[in-house]
Order: sequence, then structure tokens, then C-alpha cells
Amino acid sequence: MCGIIGIVGSKPVAGRLIDGLKRLEYRGYDSAGIAVIEETDGLSSLVRRRAKGKIVNLEERVKLEPVDGVLGIAHTRWATHGAVTETNAHPHFAGRVGIVHNGIIENFTELREALKETRTFNTQTDTEVVAHMIDEAMRAGMSGQEAFSHTLKQLRGAFAIGVVIDGVEGQMFTARKGPPLAIGIGDGENYIGSDAIALSTLSKKIIYLEEGDWAVLTADGVQVYDADDNPIEREITHITGSMAAAEKGNYRHFMLKEIYEQPETTAHTLTHYIDAFNHKVKTEDELGLKGLDFNRVERVSLIACGTAAYAAYVAKYWFEQLASLPCDVDVASEFRYRKPALSGNTLAIAVSQSGETADTLAALRYCKQNGLQTGVLVNVLSSTMAREADYAMPINAGPEIGVASTKAFTSQLTALLSLAITAGAQRGFIDAEAEKSLVESLTHIPRHINETLKLDGAIEELAQKLSTAKSAFYLGRGVHYPLALEGALKLKEISYIHAEGYAAGELKHGPIALIEEGTPVIVIAPSDELFEKTISNLQEVATRGANVILITDAKGAKYAKDMAPHIITCPDVSDITAPIIYAITIQLLAYHTAVHLGTDVDQPRNLAKSVTVE
Ligand code: G6P
Repeated sequence: MCGIIGIVGSKPVAGRLIDGLKRLEYRGYDSAGIAVIEETDGLSSLVRRRAKGKIVNLEERVKLEPVDGVLGIAHTRWATHGAVTETNAHPHFAGRVGIVHNGIIENFTELREALKETRTFNTQTDTEVVAHMIDEAMRAGMSGQEAFSHTLKQLRGAFAIGVVIDGVEGQMFTARKGPPLAIGIGDGENYIGSDAIALSTLSKKIIYLEEGDWAVLTADGVQVYDADDNPIEREITHITGSMAAAEKGNYRHFMLKEIYEQPETTAHTLTHYIDAFNHKVKTEDELGLKGLDFNRVERVSLIACGTAAYAAYVAKYWFEQLASLPCDVDVASEFRYRKPALSGNTLAIAVSQSGETADTLAALRYCKQNGLQTGVLVNVLSSTMAREADYAMPINAGPEIGVASTKAFTSQLTALLSLAITAGAQRGFIDAEAEKSLVESLTHIPRHINETLKLDGAIEELAQKLSTAKSAFYLGRGVHYPLALEGALKLKEISYIHAEGYAAGELKHGPIALIEEGTPVIVIAPSDELFEKTISNLQEVATRGANVILITDAKGAKYAKDMAPHIITCPDVSDITAPIIYAITIQLLAYHTAVHLGTDVDQPRNLAKSVTVE
């Protein structure tokens, strides 16, 4: 989604703004732009450069036509209102006002209508109207600050904005309602950014604006105001930990780096949820979830989008099997509008890597408003969801930059499995011995992932074959059914090959009609109690000409050696952790297929990492 960065200081800002935009690339975008206030011979002017496509295009533009100033804003745009054109790219100008914006102004048509007599609009965007409103208010005699706060009151929707005004030198205005906005505190300079990553080389001292807050920044200070315009102090968070996690290192892509990080990231997740020394999962209290008691919970409702939703689907099997706890899974964009029947003792858990996804956040708020206990399983602990939910449950996977989620998925699974065991133990469905054996299986996850990564070369060879396909199917049963959905999603997202995930037993009720000679069918089937049933489904497609890739273990490979032309043999792992380990194979398969096809793996077309619009 769109990214914002702004600097108010005393040194030239253009180069640093562009560097900041590069750190925001991972969010996904289709155009970029920069605006600064230039001073020439005592006269100031607002100047900008914009370009369609990648940030290098903008960089080229700035090289040819440099801009220079000590106050500036910059933006990566992911188109919502208006096509991907240079004209629609931010920053937008109106009179003396320059603006960058992330999110959607829902009432922009009526606001635009109200100004149409006096103003000429140059773009189709919702953003431009805000710049006009501020400029108009200043013409009516308001100061920059008054015009900014006056305009904010009229906006409906979800937005983070940054504004600079020619003639209001040395000040930058910013506001947040919905999408996050971070303010970085510097020495003789201050910054705004869509997230702390954008500001990572500029500042480690961050203020996160709360919902409805706005602020005025100068080189020497920051003043935050709440939604009612009262000056307010917000806490300064000191960002620790290495932002090296946001560098690619020796890897060709962030996605590959993140795939290879999974032994370590799942270990971090486990450290939070289990007491490996005593072979126990941590209790609710030990996890810092004071007040949560799984004995009093009658239903778990998991709500998420995208990959996080597939992690939730896997967890449904775990909560029901290990804790006898009924569990619903909802795609967030459907949840709140279907007016779900909520019962009092439901624990609603949002699952979200970013903690900012608009639909998931709205669903979380809906649950809260309706009196449910709420939790969020989240990677970014400073995110809006983490701050708003009753319980924040970290996955500790570190910054995930690749748009296609990988390490967050396995950490979500690891955390959800640990929580399901905690619930099972608390509710008396798992005794001490069973808990010990389950925790032992959990502790093997990082090692088993490491072993699975050794299949990389073999998977790369298979990926070459897969890359010629027009369409592919992924099949699985039980916990491996949602993994089949995730496998198909990964392939679609980054290789653009059409793929569908199906419950192995359901294929014959329709989609089997699409199987023809050579159709790739990836079957995920460790040798568990459902193995034989899945193998029957494998044979159903094999006899119809499918080119089967079976992902199984040594025992399964031996059994099915004459039934599948291609077999990926995973290490022997416990049934319960298998989806976490098998996830590595589908990630590598999608990754190498995409690399073979030459797509933009880390920033696939049309996709965004953090989806802050509905
Ligand atoms: C976007 C990303 C997906 C992600 C989904 C949910 O669509 O491209 O990779 O799974 O959002 O994001 P969240 O941050 O809520 O997990």
C-alpha cells in the first residue's frame, strides 16, 4: 500500500527522501513522487518530481531535474482512485499546498462538488481535494495550522497524510485516522513515515500517532494534538533490534531470505510460547495474557485476510482437536458485514502479520464493540491492532519485506499451535505426558525446517517444469487442506500462474473436469491417518493424465513411488507439526517457479504488503 516519508530539517532532504521511499518499496506501489520547498533568491516555491513505475524512474527524473530544499515529502502510490499515471501520482498540489496521502477519503466526491465552482481539479484522486480544502481555508484567512485542523474535521474515511505549505516555512503537518503514521524524532530534524522501517536510518525514537491524532513538526520539535485539537503528549518508543532484518544480505530476493530465516524465526516464536526446559507450554498468565482463561472460553473466532487466514484455517483443526474448543474462521472482509451472531464467551483473535490490515482491524473493532474478549496474533507489536486488542500475542518473526508472506505464516502456525496446546492443557484435554510429547514436537520445528530447506535444489528443478504450466491444482486433507490453499495462493501471487487449492476429497465434485494431460497437481500428503484417502484422490487425477508432484515423507514416498512421477520427500515429522514443515516446500516451489519466469518476486504486480484499504 502507499508509503509516506517526510523530513523537516536544515540539511537537503531530496536524496534521503528517496532512500526512505526505497525502504517502503516492500509495501507495493505503482508510482512514486517527491516534493520540496525550494528557496531561490529569497523566494520560495513548491516543486515536485513524479514518475510511474519503480523508484529508479523517480531517481532518474530527479537526477535530470534536481530539486533542493530542507523541507519535503515523498510518496509511493498504490492506485485506488484514478489510474496509474504520473498525474495521479503524489504529492498533489493545490495553490500553496502539497500533500501525500495513504488511505481513502470516503466523502471526497461531495467535498469536491462543494469546491467545484472555485477550484480546478487536475486529477481523479481523492487526495487532491484535501490540498484544495487546506488552500481554500488559508485564502479565507486561516493560518496553515488552522487550515489543516479545520480540513481534517471534514474528512471521512481512513487516511494518513503529510502536508507542506509554501509560505509556511519550517512546518510540516501530519494526521492519522486508520493507516498508521510514525513520527521520528531527530537532532535538529524531525520526520514522518508510514512505519518505523521507512525511518530506520533516520531515527530510532518514534512516536506512533493514535487514531484521530494530528501533529505539527518543525526542525526543533513536534507537537501532537488529539482529535479534539487538545495538545497531547504521546509516548516515545525507542526502536531496538537490528534493522538489518530489512536488508537483503546475500540473497537474491527478500522472499528467499525470509524462507531461509524460518528455522530462526520459528525458534523465536517458540521461545515466547513454550517452556522448553520443563516441556510445557506457557499458561495464559505466563504469556502475559492476564484475565484470559481458556476454561471460560466457549468458542474461538479467528479472523484474518490472505495468508494469515490460511494459518487460521489450519489452527481451527488444532483448537478443535487438541482443546475441544469450537473454532470459526472468517475472512475479515466478510465477517463484519455478515452481522455474525456473537456469543458472550467467544474469544475473537485477529491474525495479522502487519497488525494494520484494514478489514481485519475493522473486524477486531467490531468484536470489541460487541463486548467480546479480543486478541491479536501479530508480528508488529507497535501496530494498531496490537494496541487495540485486549491481548497482543506476538509471533516475533522480525520484519517481513517480501509481499508474499512466508516466515510470518510459519510463525503464525507455530504460535497458534502452541496456543491450542495451552488451551487443551488448561481445559483438561491434554495431560502432562501428552503436553510433554507435544512440546517436544514443537521444539523440533526449527531443525525440521532446516532439513527441509535442503530440498531446495530438487524443488528448483521441479519448479522449472511447473513454470510452463497455465494452471495448477494443490490438494490436501485435514490440516493440509488449508496448506493446499496457501500453496495455490503463493504460486498465483508471485508466478501469476493460475492455481487452485482444493480439499482432496472435493475435487471430484467439479474441478476434476479441468484435469487434462499434463495438468500439474501438487498433492500434500504426509503418511498420517488420512494418507491412503489422499492417495486415492491422487490416483483419480493421475489416471486422467495429471502431472503429479507428491509432497510426503519417506514412508509415503515408498508407498506411492509408482503413482507419482515427482516426489518431494520431507523429513519424518510429527503429524501435528507437519503443516509447518511442509509449508517450506510450497514456498520454495512458488519462489523458484516465479524466478524461472522472471517475475518481480518481492513486489508482485498489483499486490501490496500492507492493505490499509477495505
Ligand atoms: C496482503 C498481503 C498478504 C497478507 C495479507 C494479510 O494481501 O499481500 O501477504 O497475507 O495482506 O496481511 P496481514 O498483515 O493482515 O497478515
